[in-house]
Amino acid sequence: MNRWTTLALSLALFAGPAAAQPELGQSNPVQSDPSPRAGTQQEAAEKDAATGQDKAQVNAQDNATETLGDLSQVRSIVIDRGVTKLSKSCIECHKQDNPGIISDWKRSRHAHVGVTCLDCHQVSADAPNATQHESLVGTDTYISVLVSPDTCGRCHPREQEQFNRSGHVRAYRQQIPKDDLHALVHMHEGRGHPELSAAPDMTGCMQCHGTEITLDDDGRPTARTWPNSGMGNIYPDGSTGSCVACHTRHRFSIEEARRPAACASCHLGPDHPDIEVYENSKHGQLYATEGHEWRWDSAADAWEPGDYRAPTCATCHMSGIGTLSTTHDISERLYWNLWAKRSGVRDSDDVMSPLLGDGPEGRKKMKQVCSACHGELHTESFFHQADAAVRLYNEAYWDPAKEMRDELAAEGLLKENPWKDDFQITFYHLWHHEGRRARHGAMMAGPDWAHWHGFFQLQQSFYKLEAIHKARMETGQIEPGPPKGMSGDH
Ligand code: HEC
Ligand code: HEC
Ligand code: HEC
Ligand code: HEC
Ligand code: HEC
Ligand code: HEC
Ligand code: HEC
Ligand code: HEC
Repeated sequence: MNRWTTLALSLALFAGPAAAQPELGQSNPVQSDPSPRAGTQQEAAEKDAATGQDKAQVNAQDNATETLGDLSQVRSIVIDRGVTKLSKSCIECHKQDNPGIISDWKRSRHAHVGVTCLDCHQVSADAPNATQHESLVGTDTYISVLVSPDTCGRCHPREQEQFNRSGHVRAYRQQIPKDDLHALVHMHEGRGHPELSAAPDMTGCMQCHGTEITLDDDGRPTARTWPNSGMGNIYPDGSTGSCVACHTRHRFSIEEARRPAACASCHLGPDHPDIEVYENSKHGQLYATEGHEWRWDSAADAWEPGDYRAPTCATCHMSGIGTLSTTHDISERLYWNLWAKRSGVRDSDDVMSPLLGDGPEGRKKMKQVCSACHGELHTESFFHQADAAVRLYNEAYWDPAKEMRDELAAEGLLKENPWKDDFQITFYHLWHHEGRRARHGAMMAGPDWAHWHGFFQLQQSFYKLEAIHKARMETGQIEPGPPKGMSGDH
């Protein structure tokens, strides 16, 4: 039986002309409602739309907003149906066992519009991850603890489609063929331990990048692969991604995702210190000083300067601003690839390519973001400064360092284990840590990271590479003794 008919759901979606209508079953009376959704979610949060009520309804017209934004982009989903007895039973029982989950959900927009546990957790009986708990045995209702992007995408097809063409989607897939990474994790970090070598992945890489979620014999996710909200998870239904990475369960809040903290659980640290760069920037300074006074809950595409004084990560990379529309494709506004060994200009529509995107188009869009608050001269000159830093890294650090490395390799003067070799350790820090810090710091206006953690350290590493290269080429030997670059404070 079709779950949507069971639930007597009537769901309508009004979307801009380009957006697709989700398929939600045959017999749903669909209503189009062209009015934008509420500018504030405060009332929504305060109302307890949960268990006590038979009908959870939202009528966007009641919540007409004063900031309309670009009307062609406004969309609103309207759900008009009752919360069934079965849905109520989930809520009532779980209120005892997991009051935290219920309270998060109750305060969410989902609860307000009548999206319940079953909408996300019910799966078909033949799904590989179908399970039943005691209260469901003997019924035709199956659930799973896993909620894939395809599940969210049924009601939010536009967001999923944009996510699917972004660099985020490859966060795990991109690693699969990289043998040197698996060797690093299992052989070097995991010490080749027969039982425990996956620990560094389970507690580290996987929590940011995701993994392929596997199931045990009962259809439950294995402890080897779950829990994690890594960006590129591959779910048993084949869909890829993690919507909870920025909208944590069970609030699924737009406001949370707009805060820099939403990105900071992954975009930090020695190799991509984006949150640190942000905190170092004037924008971050303003956010720290007065962010608590800004308005965070305007509807998508209606969150504009005035609601805030300085941009967050989301403002520059995702949110609608001026004539730009909100996007879940975080690659759309980029010019360079800044994580690669050598930065190239983006020019590919292959989602697995490091150069995914259209560089010149991306730059145009990013400049549109700046232009909401800065003049043209400021913006043009900023990118003149920042591009110079990226090119300097490419031309004066990466290219000659790579040349030295290739020469040593050709002469057989590199150790087989790169993590015991002073040259290779330093070379790694040059591009993966210091070089990235310089590039990210420069492009996002964080001078401490562009300079002290960036170019200053780059020149130090470069001199060291030169010295090792010279000694090895002159002697024809790899210097004896333990590498000096180990466990450095990089
Ligand atoms: C009579 C109480 C009860 C009812 C009714 C109930 N649950 Fe549960 N549910 C539990 C308990 C107990 C667990 C497992 C214990 C735990 O880990 O908290 C659980 C576990 C879960 C899990 C985690 C799955 C897993 O494999 O461990 C999900 C998701 C879930 N329930 C959803 C639902 C949904 C959806 C409904 C409504 C169809 C529902 N529950 C109805 C008590 C209940
Ligand atoms: C909008 C979709 C959505 C709704 C509605 C929803 N969940 Fe979830 N739930 C999720 C997602 C996403 C996860 C994380 C699953 C994953 O990692 O794939 C999750 C995880 C869980 C878990 C395991 C989490 C943990 O920390 O142990 C339980 C239990 C659960 N949900 C119960 C419920 C109950 C009960 C309700 C109804 C009050 C509910 N969910 C409503 C999306 C939803
Ligand atoms: C059954 C349909 C349905 C499913 C499944 C669903 N949602 Fe929603 N979601 C809605 C509706 C309806 C709204 C309210 C839309 C509005 O206000 O116009 C909403 C709103 C949202 C919002 C905006 C919240 C805010 O603060 O304004 C986010 C974020 C969101 N959903 C994320 C998710 C994620 C992530 C999943 C999967 C884990 C999911 N949704 C699954 C129907 C659904
Ligand atoms: C759960 C971890 C996680 C969170 C949270 C996260 N990201 Fe990412 N992000 C990643 C990973 C991993 C990659 C690398 C993907 C790849 O290229 O394989 C990435 C890549 C990117 C890229 C580069 C994409 C490209 O095409 O090279 C941008 C830009 C980005 N993220 C922005 C953001 C923003 C903005 C936020 C917050 C709104 C955010 N991310 C939240 C993990 C995360
Ligand atoms: C704290 C979160 C985090 C952890 C832990 C982490 N990464 Fe990443 N990784 C990221 C982010 C964020 C990016 C994207 C940086 C950018 O766009 O500039 C990234 C980029 C990458 C890239 C380049 C893009 C790609 O996917 O090819 C590789 C490869 C990579 N990481 C592999 C790993 C491996 C292997 C581990 C574990 C040994 C690991 N990462 C641990 C967050 C993390
Ligand atoms: C990298 C972080 C990130 C990830 C991952 C992410 N979102 Fe979002 N999402 C955001 C941000 C930021 C906004 C608010 C954009 C704005 O300011 O307009 C948002 C807004 C939304 C909205 C509200 C849009 C509206 O029109 O009201 C929905 C629905 C949504 N996301 C669903 C999803 C779904 C479904 C997924 C998984 C396919 C997902 N998100 C993954 C960051 C993220
Ligand atoms: C003022 C706007 C702005 C803010 C705020 C901002 N960024 Fe950026 N970000 C940029 C620009 C500009 C670039 C470089 C784009 C290019 O290549 O031209 C960039 C590049 C990146 C990249 C590098 C992608 C790659 O190719 O490796 C990541 C990752 C990223 N930003 C994440 C974040 C995160 C996370 C935050 C918040 C902590 C953030 N950004 C805040 C404007 C911003
Ligand atoms: C929401 C408004 C807003 C947006 C959007 C915005 N900025 Fe800013 N920016 C500010 C404010 C406010 C300051 C602080 C000005 C001051 O110091 O008086 C600032 C400061 C700066 C500074 C520090 C130098 C200076 O002029 O004081 C740089 C560099 C900068 N912004 C670059 C950018 C770039 C590049 C973009 C687009 C990628 C951007 N900004 C987008 C509001 C914004």
